Amino acid sequence: MKKIGVFTSGGDAPGMNACVRSVVRSCLSLDIEPYGIWRGYNGMIAGDIRKMVSHDVSNIVQRGGTILKSARSEEFLTKEGRQKAYDNLMEHEIDGLIAIGGDGTFTGANLFGDEFEMPIVGAPGTIDNDLYGSDITIGFDTAVNTALDAIDKIRDTANSHDRVFFIEVMGRNSGYIAIQSGIGGGAEMVMVPETSTTMDDVIQTLKKGRDSQKTSSIIVVAEGDEQGNAHEIAGRVREHNPDLDIRVSTLGHIQRGGSPSAFDRVLASRLGLAAVEGLLNGEKNVMVGVIDNKITYTNLKLAISKSKPLNQELIRLVDILSI
Ligand code: F6P
Repeated sequence: MKKIGVFTSGGDAPGMNACVRSVVRSCLSLDIEPYGIWRGYNGMIAGDIRKMVSHDVSNIVQRGGTILKSARSEEFLTKEGRQKAYDNLMEHEIDGLIAIGGDGTFTGANLFGDEFEMPIVGAPGTIDNDLYGSDITIGFDTAVNTALDAIDKIRDTANSHDRVFFIEVMGRNSGYIAIQSGIGGGAEMVMVPETSTTMDDVIQTLKKGRDSQKTSSIIVVAEGDEQGNAHEIAGRVREHNPDLDIRVSTLGHIQRGGSPSAFDRVLASRLGLAAVEGLLNGEKNVMVGVIDNKITYTNLKLAISKSKPLNQELIRLVDILSI
């Protein structure tokens, strides 16, 4: 293997840059030529592929977003698009690929790996932390801390005005950001797609809080919760409790930006090197991850098809601490 291509794809995540830097520098240290592919699969299809040197990744370890840019590619979902991408990779004599992204990225990588002779190693980069095969994904720690910072600030104003706040966090179909930021932020309740919470549960929790002299409450809602989004849930509670002063805050894309935490920078750096070494050692169509703090390689098909359950201990913790 002489040339490795690296790209970022799907929703960006803090720490993607640290991972790109690690891939490029690891390649150079191991006498491999690194090639950057800009704008994910779209750039692969358009042939936006350039050789990278060490200086290209200087001063990016601390930066959020991704210098390689990112996209969710519709064209790569077609056989024709993937063929164009493969032809462009062949033109640059790329021998292996490192895909930094999440579920959608690896779904594309898995299709591509089945159709063409092109070994791919995925590095899990998503704030959602929803990939089987890694205890934690690049960007999750930073996103949780960003959400937590916002929850702390909302708590100040909630407390001043004796209000109930429903705070919606990202996570697609997973409740990882919600459960961690909810515990860290002392939420009265956390609503996640992995457990079913009824509207009666919400109303009872708020009542319990008032009965125990709480004047304000925070309920963290994962965007994928089965009861709907935070506005819908708040609307139903308002109908039942018109006396409550309720507000809603949707944190949105601020959770995707910002300088990566120390944890994410180190994780991204480890996974970047492990991805390069994986390709050199013959790993193919796998996702590199960290399980019990050890580097592992999981088949891409498993990584995208198996779900990663929330830790039951954390769910129990919210209930116990919210009395
Ligand atoms: O996968 C990361 C993520 O931020 C999810 O948490 C969220 O559901 C989605 O991406 C938002 O995507 P977009 O930026 O395309 O609106």
